[in-house]
Amino acid sequence: MQRLTIRTLFSHVRRRKLRAQLALRQLIRECSGPVPLDDALTARNKSRTPDALEPHPSGYLAPGRDIGDHVLSEWLGEEELGMWTMAVDTLEALGRMVAARRPALIMEFGSGVSTLCLGQFMRTSGCVSAGPAVISIEQSQEYAQKTRDLLSKHGLSDVCDVLHAPLQPCEFEGEASVCYAIDGGQLSASLGERGVDLLVVDGPAGDRFPTALSVAEFLSPGAMIVLDDAWRDAELEVARRWALLPWLRVEGILPVGKGLLVAETVEGGDR
Ligand SMILES: C[S@@+](CC[C@H](N)C(=O)[O-])C[C@H]1O[C@@H](n2cnc3c(N)ncnc32)[C@H](O)[C@@H]1O
Repeated sequence: MQRLTIRTLFSHVRRRKLRAQLALRQLIRECSGPVPLDDALTARNKSRTPDALEPHPSGYLAPGRDIGDHVLSEWLGEEELGMWTMAVDTLEALGRMVAARRPALIMEFGSGVSTLCLGQFMRTSGCVSAGPAVISIEQSQEYAQKTRDLLSKHGLSDVCDVLHAPLQPCEFEGEASVCYAIDGGQLSASLGERGVDLLVVDGPAGDRFPTALSVAEFLSPGAMIVLDDAWRDAELEVARRWALLPWLRVEGILPVGKGLLVAETVEGGDR
């Protein structure tokens, strides 16, 4: 009896989600690149179910060996990507961005397998010069060390710096939030005189709105900012608020993995 009730509930939720998902599928068919944010929000509002645009994990969970870069494919092997890590096609999209834009410096929030991949993309694209080419900010001491160990195992410790920055309560635009407590001295030592050309936001687990703002002063002109998990309601809201910032142009959401929001800093907007 109880199983039937739960099944009925699930099918009800699925049907309510379906309207939004169908609208999104139509948009993806029509767009060759990122889905414009306003269109994504319209599709999302076709359902009152939470996270109506969020894809089912069966659509993005895949073993690491599926990744196009043959070195990463060998390193990652049977490790399933997409649950706590970025999805394989999201990582591949980042690889294409690195190859096309050739950033001198990437900053990432939320370390893990993606840090390894970014380091490898930077190395294969010949974007590594003096100083670390990837700076990853990590809220957990334990995972910061795990990521460092992973980088060291594959000879990427010189390419990527993992900085531990615990989360702390903060206030942005009058609203309570959480921010990374970044050690300014450590960050300056890693950055040197360089600006950040690509900012990858995959953390924290809570509100990601302040993340880009907290390092706005370090972003190069025309820097690209990407945000993972962009089909989730919380990240759609972050995107909507980012789109209101005068110094940021939100391009839209790439239909890869859990959704990858793409934005760019614009000249003239006061940060
Ligand atoms: C969304 S994940 C970030 C994952 C990372 N950007 C990636 O794609 O591999 C957010 C947090 O997961 C935690 N994390 C890192 N390694 C992990 C692991 N092996 N298992 C579970 N969580 C991990 C870290 O605290 C990280 O900041």
